[in-house]
Amino acid sequence: MKIAIASDHGGYNLKNIIYNHLVSNGYEVVDFGTDSLKSCDYPIYAKKVCNAILNTEFDKGILVCGTGIGMSICANRFKGIRAACVSDTFSAKMTRAHNNSNVLCLGERVVGQGLALEILKAWLNTEYEAGRHQKRLDLIEE
Ligand code: RB5
Repeated sequence: MKIAIASDHGGYNLKNIIYNHLVSNGYEVVDFGTDSLKSCDYPIYAKKVCNAILNTEFDKGILVCGTGIGMSICANRFKGIRAACVSDTFSAKMTRAHNNSNVLCLGERVVGQGLALEILKAWLNTEYEAGRHQKRLDLIEE
């Protein structure tokens, strides 16, 4: 699985923690920035990750900002992207199982590092159930 990750300044520290965690667990992951705590605009980084998924060989994306909300609003503007802003492990599992979400959005100012990594694990390890849910995803695409 190839994962694209990015953040703005508000998610920079958590993005680095997640990146290092993924690399040390054997995932292929590419960091699309930002590269410092300097203030920047989250839509630019959401776009980089969404385009990587839609136009290149990336399977999933992770976007981190202060709340995760700005990133999820941006990402869901891209047709084919199903982004979920999550702050608990139950929702992380459900949004994979039922929504087949391909982008996980997290808020560094909302969840601590421990919970963020549990959410990440739940999200990455849950398969899409398809079945009755596929009709609903098709309706979204329509
Ligand atoms: C940046 O201050 C903050 O607005 C941003 O990281 C994010 O929380 C937006 O939704």
